[in-house]
Amino acid sequence: MPVLAVIGAQWGDEGKGKIVHYLSQGADWVVRYQGGDNAGHTVVIGGQSFALHLAPSGILFTRPRNAIGNGVVVNPAALLKEVRMLEQRGIRVRGRLFVSLHAHVILPYHMALDRIREGGRGAIGTTLKGIGPCYEDKVARRGVRIADYLEPETFRALLAAALEAHKGELGRKEAARLKRETLAAYPALRRFLAPFCGDTGRIISKALSAKRRVLMESAQGAMLDLDHGTYPFVTSSNPVSGGACVGAGLPPTAIDAVLGVAKAYTTRVGLGPFPTEMPAPLAGRIREKGHEYGATTGRPRRIGWLDLPQLRSAIRVSGIGRLALTKLDTLSGMDPIRVCTAYRWRGRLLDEFPASRRAQREARPVYRDLPGFAGDLGSCRRLADLPPAARRYVRWIERELRTPAAIVSVGASHEQTFLHSEGSLWG
Ligand code: IMP
Ligand code: MG
Repeated sequence: MPVLAVIGAQWGDEGKGKIVHYLSQGADWVVRYQGGDNAGHTVVIGGQSFALHLAPSGILFTRPRNAIGNGVVVNPAALLKEVRMLEQRGIRVRGRLFVSLHAHVILPYHMALDRIREGGRGAIGTTLKGIGPCYEDKVARRGVRIADYLEPETFRALLAAALEAHKGELGRKEAARLKRETLAAYPALRRFLAPFCGDTGRIISKALSAKRRVLMESAQGAMLDLDHGTYPFVTSSNPVSGGACVGAGLPPTAIDAVLGVAKAYTTRVGLGPFPTEMPAPLAGRIREKGHEYGATTGRPRRIGWLDLPQLRSAIRVSGIGRLALTKLDTLSGMDPIRVCTAYRWRGRLLDEFPASRRAQREARPVYRDLPGFAGDLGSCRRLADLPPAARRYVRWIERELRTPAAIVSVGASHEQTFLHSEGSLWG
């Protein structure tokens, strides 16, 4: 019963959408297990670009079925918009997309709370999609699950109680307005959502008993993990592989292999520590070449060099056995290429990402300069086509991290993806 978890190994935007889509042609199920429409997974097919936020990236192939697991937070209005977009572009969604009855619902007041908080001193640069406030309500045991949303009486009572709890922060008038807005949109959204809903945990367990192949698609990345990331500059869920069990409703023993997706350099969007961040002129070059703008918010991404201590932490926590190295083409023309091999902090060398906020701010990267490469890597179709220095860069990373790069990607499209190391990815 093979389950392959595909995890973001950095701060998100590693190219998970593209890699999951690439692998999903050989999968029966693709499952999102955390996050919500804060995610932006870009998949390019035949020159057409799809930005997915809630639907698993397997939706774009006809074969796999797709599940939004219990660990995801679902904004029904955002899902409606995405399903419409997909259907307008000729993708069959109905009968292929399943939403967990246990998933929590993002409501307009969650977005209002996100905006209020991001306007204050504690701002961390969220996507303003209401993700944090929705998970807060879940943990506070006043959230609305999809199962609750489908029952009008239950939903109305829960909405009223939640707004009562938040009226201090929202303001009484605003809380009343949000309630009216929510209830006005509710009947149509409920009607739209109902046919997609089911017990996805059970459905996937059955598929596994029937020896089906399941891909787990993380959103965000290891360093945005609520427990293991750069707290408090994190998202409010667990993108690490452990999150896949809780967030899909599967036991830990179900996961056979973990593939970590990492860019050949590093990016981050939003605030928070970023030890290998580059000076602006250099960052600007990579940002333009690699189109490093958020797929969800359009914000320019911050750019840094590849960070091995950061990746070591991600590999350890998620049990990453293989890497998919993306956007190698974007580094073409950089010479030298710098890679951070350790951090120096208060006279000590650190080989992993530190927990201390102070250390995260003050640690200085120890760099190793590697020879750069030139030319258009986008036309390479196999490893042997890469310039020798690019191949050496990949090999060097594999050795340093003791983790093979099973997939190398040199552009957004399907053909610009090749398998590198031998052996099955599925464990
Ligand atoms: P939230 O998930 O909207 O609460 O945002 C929390 C932090 O995670 C912010 O720094 C966001 O920029 C970041 N973030 C959330 N989703 C993504 C993503 O899909 N890619 C990259 N960063 C993200
Ligand atoms: Mg993204």
